[in-house]
Amino acid sequence: DVYGWFEGIAFPLAYFNLEVLREARDTFVVKDEDIIMVTYPKSGTHWLIEIICLIHSKGDPKWIQSVPTWQRSPWIETTHGYELLKDKEGPHIFTSHLPIQLFPKSFFNSKAKVIYGIRNPRDVLVSAYFFLRKMNITKKPETLQEHMEWFLQGSVIYGSWFEHVRGWLSMRDRENVLVVSYEDLTKDPRSTVEKICQFLGKKLKPEEIDLVLKYSSYQFMKENKMSNFSTIPDEYLDKGFSFQRKGVAGDWKNHFTVAQAEAFDEIYQKKMAGFPPKLFPWE
Ligand code: A3P
Repeated sequence: DVYGWFEGIAFPLAYFNLEVLREARDTFVVKDEDIIMVTYPKSGTHWLIEIICLIHSKGDPKWIQSVPTWQRSPWIETTHGYELLKDKEGPHIFTSHLPIQLFPKSFFNSKAKVIYGIRNPRDVLVSAYFFLRKMNITKKPETLQEHMEWFLQGSVIYGSWFEHVRGWLSMRDRENVLVVSYEDLTKDPRSTVEKICQFLGKKLKPEEIDLVLKYSSYQFMKENKMSNFSTIPDEYLDKGFSFQRKGVAGDWKNHFTVAQAEAFDEIYQKKMAGFPPKLFPWE
């Protein structure tokens, strides 16, 4: 089997180790100055990382052009990312796809800042389908229908989207948590970036914001070797893989059949029942 199971959630063993997952949750010390990007996979994680790194460098692209994404902002739960972070001094910038119950416990008593990225789950599903078709470390879905079944049951890596989002959004009123949507980023990147700057307490000049927007654009990221996944070893990915696939909101409409859209809606309504909908731009 390509998966290991931790607290009922599947993790591909090529990147994960159950001991590390436990250690990251139980003993990793989150610092007050840390900045953490948290998302369910395929919600625009790499885009957010790019924006944060560029805010950090006030729009100077040197850093994003010389260090790969997974080193600039390592995924704490991966074996490699944990290794990079655990003994590193000073404030960290890091990433995680962990559901809230598996996240480092020390965060909850810290002032570290979490940016939680959300995206229409239909687009998350489509994006993940095409991604998994190219990935060699996970189970490959044969059809979109098959992946939809896995997705709706939560039998995918990192578990159920619904539980992930409901869990993390329970933190949304905390001062140190900001929720950002992929849809807002595509619709109005400038004000979304300004909102992130404000949350991080970073004052950037308008021309520095221009640079953040320029270098985090879809086209620029697609061509930047440090951001487009070209540094990931070949054995993990099929040839011809492009990380920046389509980069739009609403692509699910090109892939779901009417019957699939209806079936999805029915389960969505059930799983999100009683949840304040105002936060979701896709509703
Ligand atoms: P699509 O597959 O719909 O194109 P993650 O980083 O969480 O894995 O998310 C990947 C998704 O973000 C992909 O979506 C990818 O194309 C999109 N993406 C990456 N960089 C982007 C950018 N600069 N602008 C818009 N979308 C971007």
